[in-house]
Amino acid sequence: MEIKQNYSLEEHNTFHLPVKTRWFLEYDTEEELQTALRDEYFMECNKIHIGSGSNLLFLNDFDGIILHSRIGDITVVKEANEHVYLRVGSGVVWDDLVKHAVANGWGGIENLSGIPGETGAAAIQNIGAYGVEFKDVLETVEAYHIPTLEKHVFTNAECAYGYRSSIFKREYDNQYIVAYVTVRLDKQPRFSLSYGNLGRELSRYPEISLPNIREAVLAVRQAKLPHPEQLGNAGSFFMNPVVSVEQFDRLKSEFPEIPSYPAPENKVKIPAGWLIEQCGFKGKSYGNAAVYHKQALVLVNLGNASGSEIALLADVIMETVASRFGITLTPEVKYIC
Ligand code: EPU
Repeated sequence: MEIKQNYSLEEHNTFHLPVKTRWFLEYDTEEELQTALRDEYFMECNKIHIGSGSNLLFLNDFDGIILHSRIGDITVVKEANEHVYLRVGSGVVWDDLVKHAVANGWGGIENLSGIPGETGAAAIQNIGAYGVEFKDVLETVEAYHIPTLEKHVFTNAECAYGYRSSIFKREYDNQYIVAYVTVRLDKQPRFSLSYGNLGRELSRYPEISLPNIREAVLAVRQAKLPHPEQLGNAGSFFMNPVVSVEQFDRLKSEFPEIPSYPAPENKVKIPAGWLIEQCGFKGKSYGNAAVYHKQALVLVNLGNASGSEIALLADVIMETVASRFGITLTPEVKYIC
């Protein structure tokens, strides 16, 4: 276990905001996590758990303890005819897991190649891309309840996954710490290629295989999304809004070219990137914050932005989209005050 005081979080948030935390605590095992949770001082402190900070916006320095998992093992716990089950530590870098699965010929998460972040956060956030979501492969989540220190094993159904959402983001917000997840992968991969530009990108490859899908996804991502090491960002800043069919029909009559995707429960998902682009924000900068020129859903730090500056830009975007389209955008990024 490693504890640091007045520690810079610049390398722990992908906006690269130079904020500090009073304490930064990294643990390598479940036992170390339990020890930390039992500590009296720790119990009283303001605390949050982070992954690699790829979905966070720090508005200030953090006056408390920031926890980070380094539980980094990947173990095959069960193998059947069709599936292999992997137990994965919450601190495993998500894309390392994807790489490992693809190298072993196990399918199910190749479309999620290149997503920044760690596996514990993937389970909370239900990461998704190119027609696949984390929930499609999740078997169980092993998590510690902060108030009682008890470990609970959640089934997929108990996690109540939705679009970029889970019980850990709603009812149990900040109450559980994920230690391990178990995922079920396919030994005979079934490819999911229906997402628009992925199919187009794949047509350049001689065959459809796990490594080629991974390459194609990485190429599509690279073409559209800025790499956080080069330009601070947290991927999509907002979620894509989901509206009723009635509301969508009204919008469609006023804006016939509006793109859309079917969503569960007979609803319609509208790409927020399109709404933001229509409002003229794409490629515009506001002080040190900007809307990325290739993907309007991504806000970037041009170098010296503060969290508040980025939040201000997000507010202006939300107000403009609301007054033009009557749609309230919800940030996907979590604000830390
Ligand atoms: N669009 C525009 N202008 C833009 C951006 C998008 O008009 O500047 C429209 C286009 O019609 C485009 C459509 O939006 O066809 C969809 O764009 P894209 O394929 O880039 O996907 P997205 O809906 O903007 C979502 C996820 C991404 C994920 C991609 C691919 C959310 C909030 N975002 O973005 O996830 O990589 O689909 O599956 O659901 C993330 O969560 O951080 C993230 C990057």
